[in-house]
Amino acid sequence: MASQEEVFKKLVAHCKEYGFVFPSSEIYDGLAAVYDYGQNGVLLKNNIKQYWWDSMVKLHENIVGIDAAIFMHPTTWKASGHVDAFNDPLIDNRDSKKRYRADVLIEDQIAKYEDKINKEVEKAARRFGEKFDADLFRKTNPRVLEHQQKHDALHQRYSDAMNAGDLKELRQIIIDENIVCPISGTTNWTDVRQFNLMFSTDMGSTADGAMKIYLRPETAQGIFVNFLNVQKTGRMKIPFGIAQMGKAFRNEIVARQFIFRMREFEQMEMQFFVRPGEEMQWFDFWRQTRLKWHKALGLGDEKYRFHDHEKLAHYANAATDIEFEMPFGFKEVEGIHSRTNFDLSQHAKYSGKKIEYFDPELNQSYTPYVIETSIGVDRMFLSVLSAAYQEEQLEGGDRRVVLRLPAVLAPVKACVMPLVRKDGLPEKAQEVMNLLKYDFNCSYDEKDSIGKRYRRQDAIGTPFCITIDHETLNDQSVTIRYRDTMQQERIAISELHSLIQRATAMSTLFRKIME
Ligand code: GAP
Repeated sequence: MASQEEVFKKLVAHCKEYGFVFPSSEIYDGLAAVYDYGQNGVLLKNNIKQYWWDSMVKLHENIVGIDAAIFMHPTTWKASGHVDAFNDPLIDNRDSKKRYRADVLIEDQIAKYEDKINKEVEKAARRFGEKFDADLFRKTNPRVLEHQQKHDALHQRYSDAMNAGDLKELRQIIIDENIVCPISGTTNWTDVRQFNLMFSTDMGSTADGAMKIYLRPETAQGIFVNFLNVQKTGRMKIPFGIAQMGKAFRNEIVARQFIFRMREFEQMEMQFFVRPGEEMQWFDFWRQTRLKWHKALGLGDEKYRFHDHEKLAHYANAATDIEFEMPFGFKEVEGIHSRTNFDLSQHAKYSGKKIEYFDPELNQSYTPYVIETSIGVDRMFLSVLSAAYQEEQLEGGDRRVVLRLPAVLAPVKACVMPLVRKDGLPEKAQEVMNLLKYDFNCSYDEKDSIGKRYRRQDAIGTPFCITIDHETLNDQSVTIRYRDTMQQERIAISELHSLIQRATAMSTLFRKIME
C-alpha cells in the first residue's frame, strides 16, 4: 500500500494533469508558494466559495456580505497590530543556507514525541489484542511515561518562550533538543529573528510622496473598518454578521505542502458582532455551526477534530481550530476566534472616530464584541481533494483514479457522450446538453472509447456520465453511469434534469446545517 506521502505526491501530480492546480508562471520555473487554478480547479473553488457564501448570507437573515479592497489605509495595520506583531520567529542553518520557522521546528519535535507514544500504544494493541486497555497502558508503561515526560517538559518550555517572546530561549531549545536541519543534517544555527509577514508596496508617484501600503494579510480588517457603514446603511441590529471572501497575502517563511501554506491565498471570513458578555454563547454556536458545515459534505466525520488554543492572542478570550485529516496529518483548515472588542476599539482609537452601537433594548451604547470564523479557500480545496482522491483496483485487473467529490462541489456535474460520432447520435447528444446546460455545468465528449471517456470523467470527479446510443433515438432513453458505484441504468431523458438536480442541490446540505 502506498504511504501517505506517496499518495500526496500523486495528488499534487493529479491536480496538474487534470487542470486543477498549476504552479504559478510555470514556464519561468514557477514562483514559490504561489499557484494558479486551472479549468477544473476554478470550478471546484467557485463551488466551495458559493457553498460558504450562501451558508452565511442566504441562511442567516442577520448576516450580510461585502467586498472590500485589498489595499487599505496603512494605519489599518498599525491599529490591528500587524505592523508591530505579525511576525514569525525565523532561524537559518548556516550550512544549507535554508531558512526555517523556529516555532515550527520545535512543534515538529513535540509531534515526534507524540508519534513515539502512539507507536508504543499501537504496538502493544497488536500484541495484546482485544484485552488491551490503552488508557491504562498510557498511564503505566515506562517507555510511554518517559516520552510523555519529555513531551510535557518541551511543551512547557516552548509555551513559556513563545509567551515571553524570548527568541534566545527558542534557539536554545533547538540546540538542546538537537534539532538538525533536514537538508544539511547539522545544528549550525543562526540566532532567531522576528520576520514581519506583510508584503508592502508604494502607492502614488515618488514626486507626490509615495505612501507605503500593505497587501492585506487577512480580509477581516476590511470588515472592521466598514462596521459603521454596514450597520447604519443596512440598519443592522446586534447580533449581526458581515461576511467577506477575498485574497490575502503573507510572506510565509516556510511555504510547503502545496496549497496548504501559500504566499497568495484566499480567505472566507465572517465577523459576528454581539453584546459584550454574550460572546461565549455565540462562540459555541459558531463552533458547532461551522463543524456542521464541514460535516454536511460527507467527507467522513472522523476526519475532523477541534483544536482549542492554549496560547491565546492578547486580544482573544477563546479560540479553536477545525482540523482536517490531510495526507500529512490533522491540520488547521478554519479558525473560530472570540476577538473581544479589540479590533473595533483599536480602529476607534487610531481613526479618532466613535465606533459604537446603540442598543435600543438596553438603551445604551457599547463597542460590540466579535466572534470570527475564518477559513482558507485553498486549504478547504486541499481537504476536499485529499478526501476525494482514490486509486482503485477493478475487477479484471483494471485500475482507476477517481475523485469522489461531493456532487455539489464537483466541477462538472454531468458529461454527455454519444456512443459513436455518426448516425445522428452527436446531434441527439447536443439536444441533451441543451436540456441540462442552463442549470448545470456539463461537458460533452465524443472522443475515444466509452471506457476511456468514463475514466477521464472519474479523474475529475464528474458524478454522472450520460451515454446516447441508437436506442435513444427510438425510445428517448439514455444510459446513466454513476461515478462512485460505476453502475449503469437506463432512464428517460425527461428524468435527467430532476435526478441531477436532487444530487447536486446545495439546499440539501443547508438543511443539514440548520437542523
Ligand atoms: N482573521 C483571522 C486569520 O486570518 P488565521 O488563522 O491567520 O486567522 C485563517 O487564518 C485561515 O486562513 C486559516 O485557518 C487557513 O485556512 C487560512 N490561511 C492562513 N494562512 C494561510 C496560508 N499561508 N496559505 C493558505 N491558507 C492560509
